[in-house]
Amino acid sequence: MFTRIGIIGAGAMGRGIAQLFACAGQQVQLYDARPDAVAQALDFNRELLERNVAKGRMAAEQLTAALARMRPAHALAELAGCDLLIEAIVENLEAKQALFVELEALIADDVVLATNTSSLSVTRIAAACRRPQRVAGFHFFNPVPLMKLVEVVRGERTDPQVTARLTALAEQAGHFVANTPDTPGFLVNHAGRAYGTEAQRILSEGIASAEQIDRILRDGPGFRMGPFELFDLTGLDISHAVMESVYEQFYQDPRYTPSYQAAQRVAAGLLGRKSGQGFYRYENGQQIRTPEPQFPPVQIDRSFWLDSADAELRARLAALLRQSGAQLEQGETPSARAICLITPLGEDASNMIERLALPAARCIAFDVFADFDRRRVLMRQPALEPALEAQARQALGADAVPVEVINDSPGFINQRVIASIVNLGCEIAQKGIAEPHTLDRAVQLALGYPRGPLGFAERYGAARILAVLQGLQHCYGGEPRYRPSAWLRRRVQLGLPLAAPDSRDD
Ligand code: NAI
Repeated sequence: MFTRIGIIGAGAMGRGIAQLFACAGQQVQLYDARPDAVAQALDFNRELLERNVAKGRMAAEQLTAALARMRPAHALAELAGCDLLIEAIVENLEAKQALFVELEALIADDVVLATNTSSLSVTRIAAACRRPQRVAGFHFFNPVPLMKLVEVVRGERTDPQVTARLTALAEQAGHFVANTPDTPGFLVNHAGRAYGTEAQRILSEGIASAEQIDRILRDGPGFRMGPFELFDLTGLDISHAVMESVYEQFYQDPRYTPSYQAAQRVAAGLLGRKSGQGFYRYENGQQIRTPEPQFPPVQIDRSFWLDSADAELRARLAALLRQSGAQLEQGETPSARAICLITPLGEDASNMIERLALPAARCIAFDVFADFDRRRVLMRQPALEPALEAQARQALGADAVPVEVINDSPGFINQRVIASIVNLGCEIAQKGIAEPHTLDRAVQLALGYPRGPLGFAERYGAARILAVLQGLQHCYGGEPRYRPSAWLRRRVQLGLPLAAPDSRDD
């Protein structure tokens, strides 16, 4: 175990790492190139821990001991006696390489060098070192003491003992460790690419507004924040740069294609909260929410027909339609005036209408991935009669559950976003970036998703997720962005759970 830890860079991350390990019992020394930075960081940590004591979250003796374990270093040479050095300086390859070269001249051969880089290759940072085997990634999240995940990243030449020791240290401090190889975005910034990227794609195709997409994803799969609220919180400049970086590092794999609209919005300064205007407007740091649109009541004079044989869905819809004064037809084919509710998986309404030879003017799609009790999602298509859309919207909202109507899209919004998250998760498993359960835990801890990719597949069914992806790919002319991961396809074809490993050695 490490006992003396030197931290270089006393910004948001460095001071958080110092607090974490000082509270866990290690001696910590903090250095920064900017003279006031260390004193400011130590003051910040002291005030924060004092507040914890005031709130009863920490004993006064623990505070005194933790503060005594956090000390300043006034020169890099003062860190020479440490057994672990963690850098959290500016995110720049040359700066990090130069720092490690300088440190190597001061320290013994068995001292470990860790980098908190969020986007640079650990292998490339290590390549400048005399002993690259002692270099590993130690990627924390902000704020460090509260975000209980750290990625321990092994570069191509990292000694396994180094990652094992970092893992033990982080676990002892109470963090969950994701051990991962050095790949673009590591684990979390890779797994997190599907949510926002797919939402941007949906927006750019005019399928729904940013507000609608956010409402649908909060109330359906249960995300705490919609993708556009999240962009506004993080800052679109930061999020877009990560998207571009991961896309380029994977040699422009279309799964990661960022949005041209996002690039424009960044250029226009529509960055989110910090600039007062992003996808939402902010006043005094508060988001201005526009009320959901209201629609004038209409006369319902049509019956409804549903393509699905799902007994539970039929029963729930029949009861809801009765409440609206309409009825659900039971025939195998729709009557001459019925509004036809279709339930496509992955394909768009137009494709399904043609495939089933249904009357286009009377067809509207219903999303089976939406949460029936929280927000229903209907999808119009270009041939739908507007008066029938109004009847369907009113009938399906008869019990006051909100109804969202979006434009025709393969996979609505819920299906395509969830399928993209699961697909990327399966690729991560396929590439050996993380074992599936580690992936799920890491995604929940770092991104705050209600479930990890595997958990989503379990909730909606892996076979249905595969069908959504196949439908998406078909409707978008075979676009490789939606190609199903071989990991997912094999497990669905063989009837295995998604967590099943590729091979067994025992
Ligand atoms: P920051 O800007 O708050 O702090 C960086 C500190 O490093 C500054 O105090 C600066 O004076 C000092 N510094 C810069 N160059 C130096 C050098 N050559 N020698 C000594 N000190 C130097 O930055 P932040 O946010 O703490 O990020 C630090 C690192 O952590 C970056 O690599 C960043 O990508 C990474 N990171 C940041 C996260 C975040 O949410 N802010 C999350 C995860 C990783």
